[in-house]
Amino acid sequence: MSFTVAIDGPAAAGKGTVSRGVARHFGFAHLDTGLLYRAVGWRMLQGEEPVAAAEALVAEDLEPEALRGADVAQAASKVAVIPEVRAALVDFQRAFARRAGGAVLDGRDIGTVICPEAEVKLFVTASPEVRAERRFLELDAKGADVTRAQVLADVRERDARDTERSEAPLKPADDAVLLDTSDLSIEDALARAVALIQQKFPSA
Ligand code: DC
Repeated sequence: MSFTVAIDGPAAAGKGTVSRGVARHFGFAHLDTGLLYRAVGWRMLQGEEPVAAAEALVAEDLEPEALRGADVAQAASKVAVIPEVRAALVDFQRAFARRAGGAVLDGRDIGTVICPEAEVKLFVTASPEVRAERRFLELDAKGADVTRAQVLADVRERDARDTERSEAPLKPADDAVLLDTSDLSIEDALARAVALIQQKFPSA
């Protein structure tokens, strides 16, 4: 059984873990579309022009490890407001969504713009405070020199830019199921997502 799962939501809501878990459960391929914008943001920080970087990117292999930092996340959110950058990345994402074996894509505009026809749409969210705390604990465990207040400010800044931009802003599709993970463990959030999908596709 093959279908497309679109998972959108703000940073650190649990989208990544839920998406990877859903993909593993159903044996589907997974694309973290934030990595595309991060790669363009990273190249902009290296001095490249963002639209040319986006056009070149889809023909190359991505190097995810360099893309995890907070500076690259902010740069990603900045290049993501440029309509030509988004346009350069559309075909790659749509082709991925149509893969024969089924696909899970996570991002900000998957259910609204990239795959409005996706059979399953989830909007994974949590309060800014909960998301910032998760991100802080992650960074702190890696020995990063950040404060809770800095991480919360960073989350709020990125949320504002992602939701207020005119091109493909972060918002739930009308037919998306909302999954608020503020009071859920990541295992419970994943179990809910899998249960929701199984309700729709009992034989999957
Ligand atoms: O999911 P992430 O935190 O890695 O995404 C980094 C930035 O990329 C995010 O702040 C906004 C942008 N983005 C986007 O505009 N559309 C997507 N589908 C995915 C990410």
